[in-house]
Amino acid sequence: MSAYSRTPRPALWRAVIIGSAAAAAALLVATMSTGPTPARAADPTLHQLMVNKGRVYFGSATDNGELSDTPYTTILGSEFGSITPGNSMKWDTIEPTQNTFNFTKGDAIVTFAQAHNQIVRGHTLVWHNQLPGWVSSLPAASVQAAMENHITQEATHYKGKVYSWDVVNEPFNDDGTYRTSPFYNAMGTAYIADAFRTARAADPTAKLYINDYNIDGTGAKADAMYSLVSSLKSQGVPIDGVGFQGHLAVQYGFPTNMQANLQRFAALGLDVAITELDVRMVLPADSSKVATQNQYYTNVVNACIGVTRCVGITIWDYTDKYSWVPGTFSGQGSALPWDENLLKKPAYSAIAAALGLTSPSPSASASSSASPSPSASRSASPSPSVSPSASPSTSPNPGGGCKVVYAASPWTESAGVGGFTANITITNTGSTPISGWSLKFSLPSGQTLTQSGWSATYAVSGQAVTATNVSYNSAIAAGASIGIGFNGRWTGSYTSPTSFTLNNVACS
Ligand code: XIL
Repeated sequence: MSAYSRTPRPALWRAVIIGSAAAAAALLVATMSTGPTPARAADPTLHQLMVNKGRVYFGSATDNGELSDTPYTTILGSEFGSITPGNSMKWDTIEPTQNTFNFTKGDAIVTFAQAHNQIVRGHTLVWHNQLPGWVSSLPAASVQAAMENHITQEATHYKGKVYSWDVVNEPFNDDGTYRTSPFYNAMGTAYIADAFRTARAADPTAKLYINDYNIDGTGAKADAMYSLVSSLKSQGVPIDGVGFQGHLAVQYGFPTNMQANLQRFAALGLDVAITELDVRMVLPADSSKVATQNQYYTNVVNACIGVTRCVGITIWDYTDKYSWVPGTFSGQGSALPWDENLLKKPAYSAIAAALGLTSPSPSASASSSASPSPSASRSASPSPSVSPSASPSTSPNPGGGCKVVYAASPWTESAGVGGFTANITITNTGSTPISGWSLKFSLPSGQTLTQSGWSATYAVSGQAVTATNVSYNSAIAAGASIGIGFNGRWTGSYTSPTSFTLNNVACS
């Protein structure tokens, strides 16, 4: 029996972008070629469409080897708002021998994401697969300490650099019984709560997820996950979200009642996300399989958008060139929205349409690799135009209070209208800890928040924004930083707020 089959069968940072020559040239060309019709920006990216729906991101998995493929990274860096390392943060990569940690590969993914103003979904801390042999060889009495050490070291290393962690991955068998693993064998089901508590202690701001496959629709496995998560919540275990992998196959049918299933988890007070979406088929593809695939992608987007707390969708890499499917499921493939030549497939159009793209430009289904169209995106210029050194607005407090870095990536949808993602880093530059905080700033006129943001509670009155700590990041030790953020809309021209107060004391 094969895993991931649905049935038991075999198996800037600011402003630099807006004013770029590339974007200006694109508008000029559009004006000239379309005559009197108003200039329109290139099609929005999947991430922008998702943000316009009030969500946090549309993302892709990636891997280290692919980062030297420039046509590939051009799309990876511009189309997506979130990156998940497909392998580089797994146990066998990070801690191949006990207490020897190697973060090189994970760091390379984080560096890429930061250079393109993308968030990172950390994947994964505790999983039965890609687990080095030394863990399985430990005496049961040593497993808990080894697990806690692994979580603590890794989550501490990536503290402030990841939006979320898949803390526990794939805890269940397909029939809803607990999967055996060195962790389960040594600690029983208690390993799960222990892993979440350890992760929260190491990184108080990352959103902590449990993640699994074949829980997308209702059924025994989803029920098992639901009762586990209900129990964790009622015990006060720090869990923030449930990840639905979404490894689908046209030959197995679409998950039952996916939206209602997501909704019941959201109703427990959790975020939900589609974390590893792909829709494979038995090769060769034909028009009927492709039509089914398009429908499945549409259905998944609709299910997520139908649930307010569905924060994001990640596809498990974006191109068939780097899909895990052919290597894992013999004879299957063509699972992703871009083909092996980095050309958009009908699945891409299905996703974009489900996210509300009504009138794609004529090039919508053409390559975006051969000539990266200035897609009015988070990095409209083909060369990365965003970097952490590109003058984010900074408000140091010489008196020793707080420093705020407001890093926004705005994009233009049509003349004078667009969206943005703002990531805000608050540093306690004083010598005493901060316990409970409120950050206040004014959004420039014409700007609004489009969703509730992350890692803070946002109150908006006119243009005044107050971001208040959530329970797990109320304390900021002396010298420590925490990260929060939100998505928004702008009109006119984009500018970032320039002054901030923390607990009513100016950070400037
Ligand atoms: C896969 C990777 O994509 C492959 O490169 C690797 O060989 C095996 O793992 N569920 C998960 C992911 O949580 O970590 C898996 O990723 C796919 C299934």
